[in-house]
Amino acid sequence: MNITKTRAVILPQYNDNLIRALLGLKIEEIDIPELRSDDVLIRLEAAPCNPSDIAFLRGGYNIVKPLPAVPGFEGTGEVVDTGENARNLLGKKVSCFSQDDADGTWAEYFRVKASDCIVLKKGMEMEQAACLSINPLTAIGLFAMVEQAGNPSFIVNAAGGQVPDFMRMMAAEKGIEVINIVRRPEQVAHLKSEGQQWVLNNTDDYFTEQFKEACNNLKPAFAFDAVAGDMAGQLLNCMPGGATLVVYGGLSGQAVSGLDPMGLIFRHKKVMGFNLNDWIAGMDRETFQQYTDFVQDQFIRGKFKTTIQGHYKLEEVVTGIRTYIKSMSSGKILLIRSE
Ligand SMILES: NC(=O)c1ccc[n+]([C@@H]2O[C@H](COP(=O)([O-])OP(=O)(O)OC[C@H]3O[C@@H](n4cnc5c(N)ncnc54)[C@H](OP(=O)(O)O)[C@@H]3O)[C@@H](O)[C@H]2O)c1
Repeated sequence: MNITKTRAVILPQYNDNLIRALLGLKIEEIDIPELRSDDVLIRLEAAPCNPSDIAFLRGGYNIVKPLPAVPGFEGTGEVVDTGENARNLLGKKVSCFSQDDADGTWAEYFRVKASDCIVLKKGMEMEQAACLSINPLTAIGLFAMVEQAGNPSFIVNAAGGQVPDFMRMMAAEKGIEVINIVRRPEQVAHLKSEGQQWVLNNTDDYFTEQFKEACNNLKPAFAFDAVAGDMAGQLLNCMPGGATLVVYGGLSGQAVSGLDPMGLIFRHKKVMGFNLNDWIAGMDRETFQQYTDFVQDQFIRGKFKTTIQGHYKLEEVVTGIRTYIKSMSSGKILLIRSE
């Protein structure tokens, strides 16, 4: 197939002010970069907007592409063309992770490396496949730390998000208790209705007392922090000796702060970061395949599910993102092909 052009969402300029960045987005017909021998061309089915995409639009993510750029770090669709070394993927439905400079998934057709594709199993829904490559694997990477430590209880903040959701699903299977921290009363009500016993709202007056009580009861060994800022210090300071704060997101936009140095020096507390790309890069292809098979099986059996709050055509991208940032806990928004 010789497809050389595509309609795509174009970011002409990074802007720390998200509303301004959104107002700059346009839909344009662009040339598809030539496929290299290990590349595939994907016809978009659906691509989500994640917090990393928001950070990218603001110019505040680890990846800064030359402008104008097509945003979108993951998506799903059918492989419609391939380079020489990737012919085995032709016609396959795949989920993919794309952090290439020249390409993003918010386009009707996009190029990715064959090695960044996960071939979908029979029974894997395309909508769920759109959000397969980032959050579920992140949750598995984080949960592997819990397993290696002998399944202690742990803390998650931004607990209404998808990564904590997958972690709770795995914790429940092993009877591990989780302390959930959210920022709105409706999120407390939602998680309690799902059977979570420990759900705290960090905007409540008595949050610190409640959190200390939860830590005394459950002795959590890890806090998985997607927020950073003061929250990070507060978490680790209240945790027992030997505990580890794992920072995997910076949703507050603030530096990690407020850590009591005495805990680090005398109580063996630790702070570390987690990055999905590095975690994947540290494993061989066979192990990666085992993880992606495991993840897909969880979706196919209905144990994992990404909540989707809306579908938007590429030209509705701004409305879609505005809906998402109003309430991220309500689920992802998906960008879908227009025709
Ligand atoms: N390190 C890695 O490799 C890696 C991989 C995947 C994801 N991540 C990071 O993980 C984080 C969560 O991603 P996700 O996809 O699970 O998110 P998500 O499903 O989109 O949900 C985000 C959650 O965070 C809450 N939130 C947003 N801003 C917040 C703030 N300033 N303070 C407290 N809570 C806040 C939202 O609550 P509301 O409903 O109140 O907005 C929502 O519950 C993001 O920072 C993402 O970049 C990192």
